[in-house]
Amino acid sequence: MDSPTTPLISRRDALIVGAATAAAVSASSATPASAQTSSASAPTAASAGSASAAGGFRMKLSLSVNGTARALDVDTRTTLLDALRENLQLTGTKKGCDHGQCGACTVIVDGRRINSCLTLAVMHEGAQVTTIEGLGTPQNMHPMQAAFVKHDGYQCGYCTPGQICSAVAVIDEVKRGVPSHVSADLTARPILSAEELRERMSGNICRCGAYSNIVEAITEVAGSKA
Ligand code: FES
Ligand code: FES
Repeated sequence: MDSPTTPLISRRDALIVGAATAAAVSASSATPASAQTSSASAPTAASAGSASAAGGFRMKLSLSVNGTARALDVDTRTTLLDALRENLQLTGTKKGCDHGQCGACTVIVDGRRINSCLTLAVMHEGAQVTTIEGLGTPQNMHPMQAAFVKHDGYQCGYCTPGQICSAVAVIDEVKRGVPSHVSADLTARPILSAEELRERMSGNICRCGAYSNIVEAITEVAGSKA
């Protein structure tokens, strides 16, 4: 009779199983590239999605980006940031930390600013997305872009698209009466004071330290004293 400590599989059996597993893995990785490509490029139902050769799952997705309808076919693990930059080539939105800590990736989705690195593209079917490219152009700048230029609200410029998208949404938040962490009265209409502005923009980090100029630019557009 076997004791509780008697192995149920011999060392020789274990080696045979291990060798068979390794052979199976190498056989699957040797699948012709052409076969992998065809399965990746042939997504099926629009809403149901399909498996991708990389082991993920692909879905079709419709977004309105800067007022233009865009159709995408993405791995479900794709962040909104990567979909904008890699799939739509809208590289104005920057990837700083990719962890929700710097605000460089801020875009406006359905009127609210979000960190696009922290959300999956497939969570935004049908959404209206505004990136820095959608706010204005060098020839026809948004008032916030013009104010950043006027007040030197940037140095290297890496954080600037996120700062500007965030600032535009902050002014809208204040107009809509959305309170912040420092609002003394949650029922009163907020005023864009210096304290409110600094709190609301605190998720946008500027490594160049252009903060005082950024505050001046936003204050001018908001028409308040900060
Ligand atoms: S890149 Fe998204 S918060 Fe830093
Ligand atoms: S301008 Fe360089 S990080 Fe802000």
